[in-house]
Amino acid sequence: MAPSLLDSVDGLRGAVAAWRADGLTVALVPTMGALHEGHMALVRAARTLGERTVVSLFVNPAQFAPDEDFDLYPRNPADDLAKLAEAGVEAAFMPNVDAIYPPGFATTVHVEGVTAGLESAARPHFFDGVATVVTKLLLQCLPDVALFGEKDYQQLVTVRRLVADLDIPCQIEAVPTVRAEDGLALSSRNVYLSAEERRVAPRLFEVLSWMAAALAQGAPSADAVSNGRAALTAAGFTRIDYLAVCDAETLASVEGISAPARVLAAAWLGETRLIDNVVVNPVG
Ligand code: PAF
Repeated sequence: MAPSLLDSVDGLRGAVAAWRADGLTVALVPTMGALHEGHMALVRAARTLGERTVVSLFVNPAQFAPDEDFDLYPRNPADDLAKLAEAGVEAAFMPNVDAIYPPGFATTVHVEGVTAGLESAARPHFFDGVATVVTKLLLQCLPDVALFGEKDYQQLVTVRRLVADLDIPCQIEAVPTVRAEDGLALSSRNVYLSAEERRVAPRLFEVLSWMAAALAQGAPSADAVSNGRAALTAAGFTRIDYLAVCDAETLASVEGISAPARVLAAAWLGETRLIDNVVVNPVG
């Protein structure tokens, strides 16, 4: 069955209130549309965690800088709705920009600490935009659980922080990154890659994976990072915004692995910026 299309906050609240009146639990999957298998993994997980699922589809202007791809960002609402119908999602929340940011809107949610560095170095506006819209979506829907992908790892950690700090009564569930057979993390922006860039792109995951293996065996972070940078450049990545070994919870950079860590990267192939990350678990 096709999901109910909701385009206003009142409509969303009404649908959720009706489910609550029937004693049903609610899962929210926030997305910017252009749904791929990575999103659908979130949706499938949501359907196991809540008795009703809302998927929001909103390309959030607040998380794009003026020189970024807001206008070009892929939008396929008909395809998205067909995928959500097939997955059995009950409601799609598709507000327009004014419904989220009405005239006079003047509030920003700013998370300190975990947003420092990494993505913020190249995209200083990004986490204020994400934190503001995610806070709004959580307060509009008040789901029992909301799901986020590990692919955007710093975003996931930021959302966990804001939910804890603002006492938002919602569980945050992380879903592992979905990859193409050759290892490339699925992303709506992969459509920007040329055939040659697409051939090189999986090397990002390959390099992060061998860095994680070396780190788990005791390699110092500085050596792993410098070898990883050299390998990415040799593979054809044209720019590396960051390649870092960080504590999995605080995202502080770490020298050696004594607690769960992540290797995180953002690197460019031509005009396309790819991000990815992998886990590193301490051995023994
Ligand atoms: O990950 C995304 O698609 C977006 O950053 C999110 C969480 C939907 C907020 O706009």
